[in-house]
Amino acid sequence: MLRRLHHDQPESFAFTPANLDWAKAQLTKYPEGREASAVIPLLWRAQEQEGWLSKPAIEYVADMLGMAHIRALEVATFYFMFQLQPVGSVAHFQICGTLSCMIMGAEDLVAVAKEKIAPVPHMLSADGRFSWEEVECLGSCANAPMAQVGKDYYEDLSTESFAELIDRLAAGEVPVPGPQNGRYAAEPLSGLSSLTDYESGRTQYNASVALATGLGDTIKRIDGSEVPVTTPWLAGGRKVHVSARKAAKPAAKPAVKAPPRTAGPTGVPPAGTGTKPEALAEPRAGGADDLKQIKGVGPKLESLLNTLGFFHFDQIAKWTGAEVAWVDENLEGFKGRVSRDDWVEQAKRLAAGQETEFSAKVKKGDVY
Ligand code: FES
Repeated sequence: MLRRLHHDQPESFAFTPANLDWAKAQLTKYPEGREASAVIPLLWRAQEQEGWLSKPAIEYVADMLGMAHIRALEVATFYFMFQLQPVGSVAHFQICGTLSCMIMGAEDLVAVAKEKIAPVPHMLSADGRFSWEEVECLGSCANAPMAQVGKDYYEDLSTESFAELIDRLAAGEVPVPGPQNGRYAAEPLSGLSSLTDYESGRTQYNASVALATGLGDTIKRIDGSEVPVTTPWLAGGRKVHVSARKAAKPAAKPAVKAPPRTAGPTGVPPAGTGTKPEALAEPRAGGADDLKQIKGVGPKLESLLNTLGFFHFDQIAKWTGAEVAWVDENLEGFKGRVSRDDWVEQAKRLAAGQETEFSAKVKKGDVY
């Protein structure tokens, strides 16, 4: 299938402020200089926000990651999960047409889509509110046939329930995802034959449906207000899971600026985020250590550490847990790096004049 950019492109693209925060948080998952690794999640979020990937969106993500536009275009055009043309403003149905679903009636679902939405895949319905396509196995074979809408699965479909699903969405409803035939999850159609005790302790929905309903509207465009914290180290170890409908906004993170170099080590940590380690106004006689020998520290982070008053391995080697927490919180743009790469352990060895596997590579010039 030829995958090209749509002929009609919007003027521009920008993440919503909350999605931008989310995207920046994703970058902290990757080592400095390897931010391009975040291209798929960021493209995906751009698609979740807009419904499809426009050229400005692809280029926006490429610019954010410091990639050539063509590199991001290659990714977007390669993976079929990226929609390169506008999709229905209410819902885009991805109907699984692989073996289990085909045996269980996927072709009949496609016939319903052709009749109720548009005669060919990727074509918008007359009112622009719906579109559909056939996709390969979505991993829900035990609940075949099924279709995906946005982030959610509608399973155990029949022609009747699929047609009703389209009608209900058209009427502004948000049908509960999951099995549409009364099944709880993927247990036998005839009911549980083992672990029957488990039946009495069931929650209202199976875990996937509970998560979907907790996060909110299946057909809603993702604007970041869903509080999708997938970087728990930035949430101070808290597990964040808040219903979009209950959470008006993500909790504001305390803004902590690095103290200016000239002002000395006077940064004030936000309440409850550890203790600032002892810092120096400048390196000791003999000059600063090459902190880039610590795995996870690149030129930008080294400069940031110096700004915070940290110049030497032995300073880092002495950080306590509370001090690590403070530094983790105050590395603007690189939060969580200290504990992620265990700088303290590395610094202990370097301060003792030993080498680490990484510092040996740095000395050999094998790290760029
Ligand atoms: S065959 Fe349809 S979900 Fe696997």
